[in-house]
Amino acid sequence: MTRHALSYADWSGAEYRSVARSLLGGGVRQGRSGAQLALRLQTDYAPSRAYALNYAHTALALALAAFKRRRPQRDVVLVPAYICPSVVSTIAACGLQAQPVAVGDDLNLDLAALRQALEQAPLALVAPHMFACPLPMAEIEADCRAAGVFLVDDAAQVAGVRHQGRLLGTFGDVGLLSFAQSKTIVTGIRGSGGVLLVNAPALDDELAAACAALPPSPGRLAALLEFCWNYLWVERTGASGDHLERLLDALGLRPADAGEVQARISNLDAGIALAQWPRLDAIVAARRTVAAHYHAALQEQDAIGFPQFAPGRYLARVMLLLPEGSDLAACRAGLRQQGIQTRLGYRVPFAEQAATRHAQALAARLLGVPSGPRISAQDSRDICRQLGRTLSDFHLKA
Ligand SMILES: Cc1ncc(COP(=O)(O)O)c(C=O)c1O
Repeated sequence: MTRHALSYADWSGAEYRSVARSLLGGGVRQGRSGAQLALRLQTDYAPSRAYALNYAHTALALALAAFKRRRPQRDVVLVPAYICPSVVSTIAACGLQAQPVAVGDDLNLDLAALRQALEQAPLALVAPHMFACPLPMAEIEADCRAAGVFLVDDAAQVAGVRHQGRLLGTFGDVGLLSFAQSKTIVTGIRGSGGVLLVNAPALDDELAAACAALPPSPGRLAALLEFCWNYLWVERTGASGDHLERLLDALGLRPADAGEVQARISNLDAGIALAQWPRLDAIVAARRTVAAHYHAALQEQDAIGFPQFAPGRYLARVMLLLPEGSDLAACRAGLRQQGIQTRLGYRVPFAEQAATRHAQALAARLLGVPSGPRISAQDSRDICRQLGRTLSDFHLKA
C-alpha cells in the first residue's frame, strides 16, 4: 500500500479536455495548437523569440550547431558536474566535448570554479537551475560576455518562473524549457515538449529556419498513454506498464525511433501545455508550500539536510541530503515498506575527477521525497520522521 506517492505532474480537467479535443478533431501530430503555444510563449518571453520543439535537448543541439558555426575552432562546452545526462549526450552527439565544472551544495555551478573554467576559452556554457534552484544569471551572463563564451540559460525545469524580476531562460544567447515529467509545466514523457528561446537577435534567422525545417513529432499518442498509465494513474494501474506496451505495439502505435527524433512539438502536447499554462502560478505556489512544509518538518531531524531550500523558493522536487555514509538503497527499501515512495537524483555522467568529486559525493546521498501538491504539513512530518527512523536503522550498518 502506498501512503505517500511521488508526483510527476499536476493535471487538472483542462489537460484531459485538451487531449480529447486533439483526438476528436484537432489532430495528434499536426494542428493549430503548436502555433498558438508559440504565440503564447512569444508574448510571455518577448523580446526573446520562442520555438516549440519536442525536447529541450533538441533546442540545445540546434543552438550548439549555430555556436559552432560561429567559432569553429572551439569544442568545449562547460556544464555543471551535476546535470541531466541527456545534456551531456547531446553535446557529444554534436561532436563537442562536455567539460564538468564543480557544483556547490545546492547542486548548481560553483561560481569560482566557473570563472576559472571560462578562462580556457570554451565554446559555450550550459547553466541549469537544478531542480528549479535559481542561479545568479545576471552575474553569469556578464562573466560569459566578458569571456566571449556563448551562454545557454537552461531553464528546462523552470518554465514560466521568474527570478530577480526576470523570466529564467531569457539570459544569455539562448534559453531552454522542457515540458517532460517532473518539470514545472508537464505535458508527458519522452519528447512531450521543449522550447528554444532565442535571446540573441543575431542568432534568430538561422535558428528560426532550423526549427521550421523540423517535422512535427511522431508517436505521441502512445507516449501520452504511457505517461498516463505509468505516471499519472500509476496508483491505479500499478506495475502493469508492460501490458500497455504490448497493446500499443499490437496496435502499431509505437514507432521504434519516436523517442529520439529531432522534431517540433506535436499538436497534442502543445494543446496540453496551453491548457496547463493558466495554472502555472498555482502549481508554483503549491510547490513552494510543500518545500516550506519539509523545511519545518526537518527542524526535528538534525542529520537530514535540504540544501536547495530557501524561504519562498520554488523547487520542482524536494531533494533531501542524507548523512554521510548512509545506505541509500537500504533506506529507500525501508521507506517503501512503510508506503513512502522515493527517487534518486541524477547520476553524475562523468568519470571521477577533481571537478566531479563533490557532485558524486552529493549524488550518493540525495533522496527525492514525495512533493506533489497534496503533501500536507502532517504528511511531510510523517515522511521526515519515518526517514529519521529508517536512517537510524540503516545508517550504522552502511
Ligand atoms: C536541467 C535540464 N536540462 C535539460 C533537460 C533535458 O530536457 P528534455 O528531456 O526535454 O530534453 C533536462 C531534463 O530533465 C534537465 O533537467
